[in-house]
This record gives sequence, structure tokens and C-alpha cells, in this order.
Amino acid sequence: MIEKCKGVLEGLESLVDVGGGTGTMVKAIAKSFPHLKCTVFDLPHVVHGLQGTDNIEYVGGDMFQAIPSADSIVLKTIMHNWNDEECLKILKRCKEAIGKREKGKVIIIDVVIGNLKGDIVLDQTKLYYDMEMMVLVTGKERNEKDWVKLFFSAGFNHYKITPVLGFKSLIEVYP
Ligand SMILES: C[S@@+](CC[C@H](N)C(=O)[O-])C[C@H]1O[C@@H](n2cnc3c(N)ncnc32)[C@H](O)[C@@H]1O
Repeated sequence: MIEKCKGVLEGLESLVDVGGGTGTMVKAIAKSFPHLKCTVFDLPHVVHGLQGTDNIEYVGGDMFQAIPSADSIVLKTIMHNWNDEECLKILKRCKEAIGKREKGKVIIIDVVIGNLKGDIVLDQTKLYYDMEMMVLVTGKERNEKDWVKLFFSAGFNHYKITPVLGFKSLIEVYP
């Protein structure tokens, strides 16, 4: 999968995986990109006691307060857990974390409803997840229009959606 998306990370020097858990994805990325400085950022009790490596660091904190600074901020399966107001806060913290970095971007891996035209079965599954998110947490699944509204409201200027991950899409969002 990383091989399929390699271009997305090429040229970057640092990456923060927000809500990155115990670092499963970052470990795979760090293996393919040994020169990329990676940070796994999650709630303090989640990363407590976890050992980093030469290019992986664990940082505890709250994404609603502040996110460590980097070229790229990854949000994998995070945004669909939260409502629009909460997502806006997260995106604003991401924008602050990128600052004025030339190559800065947010990389979102999440559901985009309706982006694979004609794939009714996949869209039905996405809508099922939409209901699950509404019942279990305060979140929801979003179509492209919903996503764009969030990106522009948070002060980002352009974006690119690549439906390479089947059920989920890869969305690059730029200041
Ligand atoms: C649905 S899991 C996604 C984990 C991982 N990104 C993945 O795709 O498997 C959400 C993650 O967000 C973390 N999280 C929840 N609230 C957070 C907060 N306020 N700040 C940082 N991380 C948070 C959780 O601890 C959890 O690891």
C-alpha cells in the first residue's frame, strides 16, 4: 500500500501521525522512508512508556490543544469520529503545526462518500459506517462537499482526493 502512495511522502522531511495509536502505520512508513523524521502523537496514556527509534518519536498530547510541528500531518481514521465543529478545531491545529513550511500538507485517510461513481455496494457500506459513527461517537462520514467546506473554513486553499485505498481515500490538503 505504501508503495502505491510513495509519491505522497516523497521530498518530505518530517511527519506527525495524529491519533497514531501505538505507531503501527508509522513503523511501516519509517521502514520505507528511513530519512523521514516521524512522530506518533496520541493521548498521553496511549503513548506512555513506548520506545522510539532513530526516526520514530512518541509524543503525548491533545490534538485539540496543539500538534507537534512538521512538514506533513497525517490524520488516519480520525476525522470521522468527530463532528464538524471538532474537525474544524483539529484542522486549525494542523495548519498551525505546518506553519509556513513550503512543502507543508495534511494527509487525511478517511471515507469520502460517493467518490467512486456507480459503486453502490461501497457507498452502502460507507453509509452504514455513517450511522455507526453517529450512534457511537459524535462523528459522521462525509462526501466531497462536506470535506471541502471543512478545509476552506479551516483556512486551507486546495486539496486533492485520490481514491487509492478502496473503502477509504487519501486526501492531501494544502495551506
Ligand atoms: C479511531 S483511532 C485511529 C487510530 C489510527 N490512526 C488508525 O487509523 O488505526 C483514534 C485515535 O485517536 C486518539 N485520540 C483520541 N482523542 C485524541 C486527542 N484529543 N488527541 C490525540 N489523540 C487522540 C485515540 O487515542 C486513538 O488512538
